[in-house]
Amino acid sequence: MAYDVVVIGSGPGGYVCAIKCAQLGLKTAIVEKRPTLGGTCLNIGCIPSKALLHASEMFHETEATLPKLGVKVGKPKLDLPAMMAHKDATVKSNVDGVAFLMKKNKVDVLRGTGTVLGEGKVSVADEDGKTSEIEAKNIVIATGSDVAGIPGVELEFDEKTIVSSTGALDLDKVPGHLVVVGAGVIGLELGSVWRRLGAEVTVVEFLDTVLGGMDGEVSKQFQRLLERQGMKFRLGAKVTGVKKTAKGADVTFEPVKGGDAETVSADIVLVATGRKPYTDGLGLEKAGVVLDERGRVEINDHWQTSVTGIYALGDVVKGPMLAHKAEDEGMAVAEIIAGQHGHVNFGVIPGVVYTEPEVASVGKTEEELKKEGVDYVSGKFPFSANGRARAMLAPDGFVKILADKKTDRVLGVHMLGKGVGEMIHEAAVLMEFGGSSEDLARTCHAHPTMSEAVREAALATAFGKPIHM
Ligand code: FAD
Ligand code: NAI
Repeated sequence: MAYDVVVIGSGPGGYVCAIKCAQLGLKTAIVEKRPTLGGTCLNIGCIPSKALLHASEMFHETEATLPKLGVKVGKPKLDLPAMMAHKDATVKSNVDGVAFLMKKNKVDVLRGTGTVLGEGKVSVADEDGKTSEIEAKNIVIATGSDVAGIPGVELEFDEKTIVSSTGALDLDKVPGHLVVVGAGVIGLELGSVWRRLGAEVTVVEFLDTVLGGMDGEVSKQFQRLLERQGMKFRLGAKVTGVKKTAKGADVTFEPVKGGDAETVSADIVLVATGRKPYTDGLGLEKAGVVLDERGRVEINDHWQTSVTGIYALGDVVKGPMLAHKAEDEGMAVAEIIAGQHGHVNFGVIPGVVYTEPEVASVGKTEEELKKEGVDYVSGKFPFSANGRARAMLAPDGFVKILADKKTDRVLGVHMLGKGVGEMIHEAAVLMEFGGSSEDLARTCHAHPTMSEAVREAALATAFGKPIHM
């Protein structure tokens, strides 16, 4: 069988690319080695983590917030198997949804491991090792990423005691003490889940801040809020050893600036120190597809690899490892293959951390602007001065807007607060259209909404003064 496009990997990058290819009239197949479609994101990433984040937040709110609103329901009881069943059902409906979309769009699903044989040729080996060869005018590599581990530290992920995010999404009881290595997105999201369900959580982080790379003010206040929730942080600490013991595991770390090593004992250790591109079994070297120094498939501005007709996208290439970045690349690559002008604006890719409160950002941070020598103005508005936030007992956090001092063009927006993961998109749309803080300040916002804080921050940026402060 000859296809116009064969996509290898059915994560958000691969399956979106396949759908778009089919919509553009290209005969398309997708190759996936997992039993279910949807990749890391739907099976062991975005979707199950958000199911547990929501459920654990409801559990926590029942005790922490509802009584303050006059709703007394007594001490909540955790039914962990039921919570996990909710997570599993959420995953199932999403991965089944992708299978439905493949059928609907007439994309052939080929089960097995895909190997690139060279220009125009892919082989697919099924579970029994039976291999079939497929011809494809275009090949798209969308094989995603895998847990990176800790360079120089021998780690044995048994996914019971020493776990990656995959094991941390499937624990059968609440750990007494969870030690998280890495205060990045995974560490803080999944650390939050288990903290809310009752675990003592200690996060050991190499950098001096949580969520390295995030706007500094957001990161500082966010850390304080997590500490208020009971999370403990050991920052500026490099983990040098994780060893299993009779009771759990010991984590050894040393101050980055130098000093004595320390060891803490944990029931469970979550190693969340980043992810690496996944290219195992793809045969790229033999096919002549070049990787960069970090093991990512090297691409040009049009997602073309070093071999004609072979494209790559998503976590396996450069850029942020985010599902929506992979999806956007998937659509763009399909358009390029179809002879159109696919494009992604990498300056406007929002990032959201789905903790409580949430963190959301788009564009440049203040630190980046300073480093680049950009002349900017900044306006801020706290949720403590927002009526809706007060009504919901959600006064923590703020909205911060950064705009070019001369042109007023918005360059970055950073938010910390309840539900800001939904609110960030008005900033993204504004930035996509090259809008100014004055544009935003003059846009009527419904009252009372949390989004009014965005307008107030825009007023503070454009005119130096918000109204409600
Ligand atoms: P993947 O989703 O990794 O999919 C790649 C697929 O390719 C896999 O199914 C794999 O089995 C398959 N494959 C690999 N090699 C082969 C082969 N040779 N043959 C056949 N199939 C192959 N991002 C967000 O934007 N928001 C979030 O909330 C979020 N939460 C996350 C939570 C966790 C715990 C984790 C781990 C990640 C999270 N991410 C989140 C990141 C997100 O999951 C990734 O950015 C996204 O999945 C990347 O999509 P992809 O299509 O590039 O690859
Ligand atoms: P990360 O890169 O976000 O964070 C890893 C952290 O580990 C860093 O802060 C790093 O300094 C620290 N670290 C590394 N080695 C260390 C050591 N030896 N000792 C102490 N600290 C050490 O990676 P994470 O959290 O594993 O996430 C992986 C990817 O998944 C991210 O790229 C992220 O984009 C994606 N993801 C996105 C989510 C979202 O969008 N909400 C949710 C979860 C994951």
